Amino acid sequence: MQTIQQDYSYNVLIKRVKENEKSSENDFISLPLDTVPNLLLGDVVEQLNRIPDKSISVIVTSPPYWNLRDYEVENQLGREKSPQEYVENIVKVGDEILRILRDDGAYFLNVGDSYVDKNLQMIPSRIAIGMQNRGWLLRNQIVWYKPDHMPSPVKTRFSNTYEPIFFFTKNDWEKKVCFDIDAIRIPHKTQGKIQKPKGNLYNGKFRGNEKNIGASPGARMSISDEKYTLKRKKELPLNIICDYLRYWREKRKIGIQEIDKILKYKHTAGHWFRKDAGGSLPLPDDWLKLKKILNFDDKYDREMTETKLVLQVVQNHPNGKNPGDLWRINTAKTGYEHFAVFPEEIPRMAIKSCCPPEGVVLDPFAGSGTTGKVARELGRKSILIELQSDFVKIIKKRCGEIKIL
Ligand SMILES: C[S@@+](CC[C@H](N)C(=O)[O-])C[C@H]1O[C@@H](n2cnc3c(N)ncnc32)[C@H](O)[C@@H]1O
Repeated sequence: MQTIQQDYSYNVLIKRVKENEKSSENDFISLPLDTVPNLLLGDVVEQLNRIPDKSISVIVTSPPYWNLRDYEVENQLGREKSPQEYVENIVKVGDEILRILRDDGAYFLNVGDSYVDKNLQMIPSRIAIGMQNRGWLLRNQIVWYKPDHMPSPVKTRFSNTYEPIFFFTKNDWEKKVCFDIDAIRIPHKTQGKIQKPKGNLYNGKFRGNEKNIGASPGARMSISDEKYTLKRKKELPLNIICDYLRYWREKRKIGIQEIDKILKYKHTAGHWFRKDAGGSLPLPDDWLKLKKILNFDDKYDREMTETKLVLQVVQNHPNGKNPGDLWRINTAKTGYEHFAVFPEEIPRMAIKSCCPPEGVVLDPFAGSGTTGKVARELGRKSILIELQSDFVKIIKKRCGEIKIL
């Protein structure tokens, strides 16, 4: 079912990319040759039209939120009469972005929500679903948690402390997406250390694996540490023990539920009489109890009860871990609060993870030029689009230098 859905979306998307492709290159700007940000002044859709097909590696942006600010300029987004109209406009911007984004590119969209009559409008989710319906792949809904969020006077609901950042790509199943996890690894909380065996040891199912690669409860317990667990000295194939137990149960005419009842278990004994993926071997203690119930011989006692201690190692990646989809980032303190400036860490994460060194970054709602500043610092070329020409001064100041096209 899932595959059908994905194929459908993919076909829709490819068709639309083709429809949107521009035949003439006459009106296109030349792509930047160095890291000086190029600024296109004007309405987002008009300006996106000037950018060549499939030329941008990463788009990272935060559009005006619905019904929040007035940027005092005609054609500004965010002043629509209803959330629906706003959502449609942002999704339309996505259509243009689809054309200019490289096939291996990424689109990071940070957008906030609004209340109407005390009712949260779920605007970010509507945008994300709208984009998915038009063929985009939503790779993550990143939570930007603001540890320094404003104290809120609300008394009848919980205060809002985060905003979503959507990470969209055009496709993934062709393995085209460029994602450099090594560029954004963060330090592990703990470094591996040996814990001496003590107290309750985990009697997990580690069949034949000396090194625990993280798929078992034992691994989850020992994440970032090294622990000892008990393991059978010799593992017998499940089907041999299962046949043996089945034979004795039939002979003694005892039901599985009865065994569970005697052992004070719920739905456990059944697993010992199964050969499929749901089957399991009784733990050593259970084996001895089962022996009393079924009164079987000593044939497998040794193999089923002799144990040894095994060091369970879950190794940290030497360069750190994946930062995950919850980003704790303080709000920006630039002194340009009226722009709703986003913290530099947002474009930094997007660019480092998804923009190859020669790639071009785009922010279609540039505001004070945060994305251009960060792209330049990271040695990436960038294009900024902004409607309000009053902001040019600030963009210049933040980016050092800009080129207006
Ligand atoms: C939330 S701010 C972006 C702030 C930016 N991330 C920063 O760090 O400074 C949104 C920007 O979108 C601009 N904007 C609004 N409507 C626009 C439109 N139709 N086309 C292009 N830019 C627009 C506003 O002027 C504003 O500067």
